[in-house]
Amino acid sequence: MKTKITELFGIEHPIIQGGMHYVGFAEMAAAVSNAGGLGIITGLTQRTPEDLAKEIARCRDMTDKPFGVNLTFLPMVNTPDYPGYIKAIIEGGVKAVETAGNNPAKWLPVLKEHGIKVIHKCTSVRHSLKAESIGCDAVSVDGFECGGHPGEDDVPNFILLPRAAEELKIPFVASGGVANGKQLVAALAMGADGVNMGTRFIATKEAPVHENVKQAILNATELDTRLVMRPLRNTERVLNNAAVERLLAKEKALGANIKFEDIIEEVAGVYPKIMTEGTMEAGAWSCGMVVGLIHDIPTCKDLIDGIMAEAHAIITGRLAQFAAS
Ligand SMILES: Cc1cc2nc3c(=O)[nH]c(=O)nc-3n(C[C@H](O)[C@H](O)[C@H](O)COP(=O)(O)O)c2cc1C
Repeated sequence: MKTKITELFGIEHPIIQGGMHYVGFAEMAAAVSNAGGLGIITGLTQRTPEDLAKEIARCRDMTDKPFGVNLTFLPMVNTPDYPGYIKAIIEGGVKAVETAGNNPAKWLPVLKEHGIKVIHKCTSVRHSLKAESIGCDAVSVDGFECGGHPGEDDVPNFILLPRAAEELKIPFVASGGVANGKQLVAALAMGADGVNMGTRFIATKEAPVHENVKQAILNATELDTRLVMRPLRNTERVLNNAAVERLLAKEKALGANIKFEDIIEEVAGVYPKIMTEGTMEAGAWSCGMVVGLIHDIPTCKDLIDGIMAEAHAIITGRLAQFAAS
C-alpha cells in the first residue's frame, strides 16, 4: 500500500512503531523495519550519545531497511545532551526522526540540512499546526486513548483525526489505540496516511522486554489503564497496578499541593525494573487502552502482514460492497 507516509520514509507499509522507553532498542526497531514498517530506536533510553551511536550501528547490522530514532523533549532534572544525540543520528546515517514533547524548532535546521525527515508527535490540532508551520515533514496525531502522554485536552482519535484532516496540509498518522487492520482502514478514512503503534508492538516475539510485560498486556482489558500525574499537568496513561493505586491515593490526598517529589518512588527509575527485570509492581509504566485488543504475541512480520491483509480485505470486500449497493 502506497501512501504519503510510505513515500516519505521509503517503507513498504504505512505502519510506524513509536519510540518507547526501554522497549525501543535495536532489536525492536530492526524487527519492525524488516517487516516493512518504520522501526524507531528510543534515543534517550541510551544513556549517552556514544551509546546511541552503538545502538544505531547494531540496528544497521540487523536491517538494511530504513529505521528512525525518537527524541523526546520533556522537562527533566538533568537536560540530556541533545546536540550529542543529534550528532549520533546524523553520523549514523539515520534518515527519520520522531520528535515528541516540546517544540523541536531549534533542532529542525540541522536535521533538515542532513536530509532527515521529521515526524512530530502531537496530541492536539493546535500543536500539529505549529509542527507544520515550523517545517516538520509529518505529524503523529496521538489521541486520548494512547499509551504514554496524551496531553491535557482529552480528545479521542474519532474526533482528533478528522479535525487534523480539516486543518493540516502535511501528512499525518493516527497514533493511539491502534492494533489491527480495521483501525488502519478507519484511520485512512479519517484522513491519516498511516498509523503509529506503541503498546501493540510490546506484545510481539521480538520486543526486547521481559515476558511478564507481554503477559500483563495479554491479561489486561481496555478498562485497566489509569491516568496519572494529571495534577502536575504531565498526564500519563499507564497500566494499573499496586504502585499506580498508591500514586493515585497520594494525588487524591495531596490535591493541588502535590509535587513531583511526592510520587518519585512510583515513577522514577521504573522502566528498567519493569521492562528488563519484569518486576511488574515496581511503578507506573506507559500503556494504552488498546491492551483490550491485544490477544496474542506474534512476530512483527506476522502482526504487520496480518494488519495489511485485514485492511485490504475490508477495503476490497466490505467497503466495496457498500459502495456498490
Ligand atoms: C511503554 C511505553 C513507553 C513509551 N515511551 C515513549 C517515549 O519515550 N517517547 C515518546 O515520544 N513516546 C513514548 N511512548 C508513546 C508511543 O511512542 C506511542 O505514541 C503510543 O504508545 C501510541 O499509543 P498506543 O500505545 O495506544 O499505540 C511510549 C509508549 C509506551 C507504551
